[in-house]
Amino acid sequence: MPDVIASAPGRINLVGEHAGYNQSFVLPVAIDRRTYTAVGRRGGELFIAFSKELGKKTSFEILPGRFEHSNFWVNYVKGACTLLNKDKTIEGTNFAVGSTVPRGSGLSSSAAYVVSIIEAVAHLYGVDLDEMDVPILAQRIENEFIGVQTGIMDPFVAKFAREGSALLIDTRSLEYQHIPMPEGCSILVCVTGVKRALATTEYNRRQQQCQEAVAELCRILDRNLTSLRDVTAEEIKEVDGEMDQTLYMRALHVVTENDRVVKTGAALMNGDKEFVGNLMLESHASLRRNYQVSGPELDAFVEIAEPLEGVYGARMTGAGFGGSAICLVESGNENELATRIAREYKQRGFEDGYVFVARTGCGSRIEKS
Ligand code: GLA
Repeated sequence: MPDVIASAPGRINLVGEHAGYNQSFVLPVAIDRRTYTAVGRRGGELFIAFSKELGKKTSFEILPGRFEHSNFWVNYVKGACTLLNKDKTIEGTNFAVGSTVPRGSGLSSSAAYVVSIIEAVAHLYGVDLDEMDVPILAQRIENEFIGVQTGIMDPFVAKFAREGSALLIDTRSLEYQHIPMPEGCSILVCVTGVKRALATTEYNRRQQQCQEAVAELCRILDRNLTSLRDVTAEEIKEVDGEMDQTLYMRALHVVTENDRVVKTGAALMNGDKEFVGNLMLESHASLRRNYQVSGPELDAFVEIAEPLEGVYGARMTGAGFGGSAICLVESGNENELATRIAREYKQRGFEDGYVFVARTGCGSRIEKS
């Protein structure tokens, strides 16, 4: 029997894509798919980890700076144990991890994984953590131990989400607000079945381009800007032609997306699902045209869903280049809509996709201790 079991959810992002690493607002929702990490003390120096999904078991000692290339997934465990071991309280531990969050589908399975590991280890060894330390540590693990420059959004929602609500996060101040999802709507997750091969390179390139856009805007506007959060859409539009065209499009997406998050938050509070749907469609168009992170599969889902009766809106979610799209639909016949959208997607020649109805989920929790 394990000593502690912790869990954390996957997520969709309602709106606020590629905004989180630009100190802007984001609006994710945790879903009812979770990753579970069971841990047990074994003492000594040896750590043994088992992943149910990968069907793999491996053992290691935590030696700082040593990465496993063959068992890549174990770097998350090593990262968590290394960063949580400041007071040298952590000893050899057994880990077993199982998950219902589809991997490689843009639903943030890695944040669910790493947050559940942090919670389980911290609880087992009584590591004193503030709530806010959890997403910050999770982000550090992804950045420093995995080498992916992800933002704070995914671990943040994996920690703080509340069932039935979206989470409005100001990624600059880390202030957040739970906004209840309106009555009578459901979320469909449309998994493209495309592994995000380009995702890491293109993701890092977009981050780089945003930094370059900030530098150009500082020069053109003759102002000190720390991020794209510091400029308005009007200001960006005024400098069209003066800026490198690619950087202009990237900046325009980020700044308009930030406005869309604020508007979506207000529309959710007013229960205005039609307006939320329109903002989602606008977000998708901007990600496709200006940020250029969509792809034929994601566009197909949005094109199929948009004209259907009962669909408020649709867009890609997550980093893009495959992964998943989401639809906000009227509750009542969400299952029929899911079947229809999946069927039409297949008819377009995309073999591997599927669609499921996602309920909202809650943030990380200790399931057993
Ligand atoms: C990935 C990252 C997030 C965010 C999205 C794009 O999911 O993990 O931090 O940047 O891409 O919005």
